[in-house]
Amino acid sequence: MALRQIRMAGDPVLEKTCREISEITPKIRELIDDMFETMYEANGVGLAGPQVGILKRIVTIDTGEGPLVMINPEIIESSGSQTGEEGCLSLPGKAGVVTRPDYVKARAFDEEMREYEIEGRDLLARAICHELDHLDGHMYTELVEGELHDVQYTED
Ligand code: NI
Repeated sequence: MALRQIRMAGDPVLEKTCREISEITPKIRELIDDMFETMYEANGVGLAGPQVGILKRIVTIDTGEGPLVMINPEIIESSGSQTGEEGCLSLPGKAGVVTRPDYVKARAFDEEMREYEIEGRDLLARAICHELDHLDGHMYTELVEGELHDVQYTED
């Protein structure tokens, strides 16, 4: 496993549409491992392929309930709304208020290319929406209500 460099806002790779993954290769397995390592190292709850320079439809998420890999994910249902703070590893030290659904149901493939469905509420719903937006070249900053503001991180 290895840490990958996280691409920062303004990098054109974050504005591109990602391609679907058709099969799990050793390179994809390595990418998944590296994405988790990079995400945990940065204390993030989610990371999308383009954030490590890979234009493929893959995200890793961990909202505290364990690691979740989503390959070729799609939101198939959403409802409700939640308004709250959001940040992104590609824009460290910043946060902004974004309204998202508070329930989503998504379909994706796991690291063995098995199709599954997942329901997410609250933070997981927010994380799924945020990460899937990255796969189509979108950042949460496009949705921020009001101004972005600085956040201070406390050391673990
Ligand atoms: Ni992000």
